[in-house]
Amino acid sequence: MSESKPRIFSGMQPTGTLHIGNYLGALRNWTQIQYDYEPIFCVVDLHAITLYQDPAELREAIDRTAALYIAAGIDPEHSAVFVQSQIAGHVELSWIFTCCTPLGWLNRMTQFKAKSEKQKQESVGTGLLAYPVLMAADILLYQAKIVPVGEDQSQHLELTRNIAERFNHLYGDTFVVPETRLPAVGARIMGLDDPTQKMSKSSENPNHAVSMLEAPSRIKKLFGRAVTDSNPAVDYETMGDGVKNLLAIYQAFSGDANDRMRAEFEGMRYGDLKKRVTEITVAKLEPIQAKYHELMADRGELHALLARSADRIRPWAEETVQLAKRRTGLFVN
Ligand code: TRP
Repeated sequence: MSESKPRIFSGMQPTGTLHIGNYLGALRNWTQIQYDYEPIFCVVDLHAITLYQDPAELREAIDRTAALYIAAGIDPEHSAVFVQSQIAGHVELSWIFTCCTPLGWLNRMTQFKAKSEKQKQESVGTGLLAYPVLMAADILLYQAKIVPVGEDQSQHLELTRNIAERFNHLYGDTFVVPETRLPAVGARIMGLDDPTQKMSKSSENPNHAVSMLEAPSRIKKLFGRAVTDSNPAVDYETMGDGVKNLLAIYQAFSGDANDRMRAEFEGMRYGDLKKRVTEITVAKLEPIQAKYHELMADRGELHALLARSADRIRPWAEETVQLAKRRTGLFVN
């Protein structure tokens, strides 16, 4: 826990259940890089309510997400694992940033456009527009230098840099401007029903994603239904996105090199390919699921663990909020 290591911050929303795309694309990478940094991994519940969530389900999903972080290998003795709403500084800093973020910057965000188009104009919450400001607050609150997120978050990260620079320009040097470099975060896993779309938690198609908590029989069914192409067997020259995706999932789990993959799978019939992908997925998820159920069986201990992390890093957040308030001219006790 050396203070001299650069801080990293990342987070996921507690909506639904994390799936193998979240795991292979981000979470597993967090577990691999955690000891090289001073890591902060957050369950971003305040972001989740930018779209209406059933309260009881949200509360459960927060525990589930935190438990999955730890079950997947985030070491809570080293990395901070906590829930965004445990630390008030996220909201405090977010308001200060809201006041120095031009509306035009937010209107341009492609994720806002996509999410708001799905809803009726009058019912689009203001929070959905302000979402990236809160994300900037998450990162800058801890003066994090590196933010391991997927490519789909690069526009939000760029906005974070712009907000930091604008604040620094208006009020004097205050915030570390995080790097634009997105560290390699892992595989980009696509939907099983539509391999042109990144695997997402919000898809309505039940055959879209494999949740990290899926039972083996259901994993088999899901891969069985996965879209392939009109070939009968793997053909590296002509294979479609669905087959590529199945191979990508296998390779992400196995860590096999490309030439080894090709030697193994070229010419393999799709039924056998799906069987192999099912087997490795079940085998790799099994220990994570076992650890998860252990953690969820003792909520008192899970909550105590989150409280310990939050208590450890809250002073870092408070220091930043005090500084930002002072710089801005707000009242500080
Ligand atoms: N917007 C991110 C996503 O949807 C989640 C997130 C919120 C986040 N705050 C963050 C990620 C801060 C990295 C850093 O994936």
